[in-house]
Order: sequence, then C-alpha cells, then structure tokens
Amino acid sequence: MTAESTATAFEVRGVSKVFPGATTVQALRNIDLSLREGSLTCIVGPSGCGKSTLLRILGELESATTGEIVHNLKVDRVPRSAFVFQEHGVFPWFNVLQNVAFGEQMAGVSKSRREETAREWIGKVGLVGFEGAYPHQLSGGMRQRIAIARAFATGSPSLLMDEPLGALDAQTRILMQEQLVSLWEAERKTVVLVTHSIEEALLLGDQIVMMSARPGQVKEVIDIPFERPRSTAIEADPEFARMKQDIWESLRDEVQASLSFK
Ligand SMILES: Nc1ncnc2c1ncn2[C@@H]1O[C@H](COP(=O)(O)OP(=O)(O)OP(=O)(O)O)[C@@H](O)[C@H]1O
Ligand SMILES: [Mg+2]
Repeated sequence: MTAESTATAFEVRGVSKVFPGATTVQALRNIDLSLREGSLTCIVGPSGCGKSTLLRILGELESATTGEIVHNLKVDRVPRSAFVFQEHGVFPWFNVLQNVAFGEQMAGVSKSRREETAREWIGKVGLVGFEGAYPHQLSGGMRQRIAIARAFATGSPSLLMDEPLGALDAQTRILMQEQLVSLWEAERKTVVLVTHSIEEALLLGDQIVMMSARPGQVKEVIDIPFERPRSTAIEADPEFARMKQDIWESLRDEVQASLSFK
C-alpha cells in the first residue's frame, strides 16, 4: 500500500452528541473512527441511532458535544465536503444545468467554467439532453442523479451522502448503485454513505461501520474484500452471501433494541 492510500481524511475522536431539551436525547456516544483518504465508508445502523447526526458533524453542519473531528483533507476555495441528502436534494426553480452548476457557484468559479464542469457531470450521470428540464419534469431517479452530479461537480474532496438512493424503486436503485460505484472508482473521493441496505454497503464500500441502537456507538467496522471494479455480479460470490448474513444477524439485534413495540 502506498503512503497516500493510508493517509487519513477524517479522524473521529471520542465524539458524543447530546440534544438537550424537554426530552434530552443522547444521539451518539464516544465514536472513534478513522476514515482513509479516497475510501468509501458505508454506515449502517437502526433508525434513530445517530447516522445522520454523525454525517452532519463530519460535514461541520453540527458540532459534537464532546470529542473532536480532525480534518486532514486540504482544500483551497471549495468546501471540504459536499452533501447528497435523501430528499429535497435539488432546487425546483433551477433546471438540470443550473442545479448541477450550483455547487461550484459557492467557490466563485466563472459561469462558463461552471457550466462546462456541469455538462461534463451531466454526461457522466446519463442526463444529456435534459439540461434545460426542470426537476418536476423528471423521474425520482433522474432527480437523484442531478444531486449526485452536483456533489461530484463541486470539486470537494469528500462527499457525505445520507441514503442517497433510499427513495428509489428497487430496479432504478440497482442501476444507480452500479453508476455510483463506477463514478466513485474513477474519482476516488473520500465518501461516507449512510444506507439501510446491506447489499448496497457491500457493493459500494471499502468498509462498513455498523452502529448500535441509540445512543449510537460503533459496534463493528467490517472490511469489504471484493476486488474493484465492482458490479452487482459480486452478489453471486458465496463470500457476499456469507457476509450479508453475518452483517444482518448483527444488525438485527440492534434494530430489535431500537424498537419499542409492546
Ligand atoms: N436537531 C435535533 N434536535 C433534537 N434531537 C435530534 C435532532 N436531530 C436528531 N435528533 C435525535 O437524535 C437521534 C438520532 O437521530 P438521527 O437523525 O441522527 O438518526 P438516524 O440514524 O439518521 O435515523 P434514520 O435511520 O431514521 O434516518 C434521534 O433520537 C433524533 O430524535
Ligand atoms: Mg437519518
């Protein structure tokens, strides 16, 4: 392994998060994580265990109550992280080109340069011909592709994605997973992606961080051994089935602990 591939992008040290209020909630407890530069980390865990909170803290949208995050990615003019949220990821009043070009606007890049970058990414996510279309004229899968293209086009070295494919139907989701894995394999940004799908985590990730029921703690960090480039063909690998089963068994305990059915 080269020195570069072992450099750390984010170092999460003893991070806890408490939301005070009428019902004080401890969302995260003592999270320690090391995220390698250029790696893709998938976070899985039961609903309410603090995945989105952790992503927001990583992206500096929220602060930790205790502990710290050491950011090692060097940035010049662009934000360190770009986000893809599950919903409301596109501006309805902008067309596709304007939506994708918006990311770089923050970095003060000229309009023509931004549009050039945006057209390149529109091509990479398969939306050529739709540059002038507005989000309401597109399918849910196409809107997600706009959000993904915009995040890549910002030039930010890290992408933080919160269930980016969660709202898609099963077939579109599979195609989008393959598209996302190949875009990332070409770009190698440092990505943290929250997902509820174990298959998706195994297909995309270098590692899976499994969180426990709230207060969210790191239960396990699992290295994913499959060779790259990857496609959904890895699902035929017996190792894939074995890992999927093991991860589900461990996750199931946490999901059960997080539910309070009587
Ligand atoms: N701004 C906030 N104020 C108060 N409590 C919050 C806030 N944001 C999150 N929480 C609480 O923190 C806990 C973790 O929430 P978070 O959204 O991070 O979970 P999650 O793992 O992303 O869940 P899901 O899988 O359902 O998206 C929850 O109990 C939630 O109610
Ligand atoms: Mg969430």
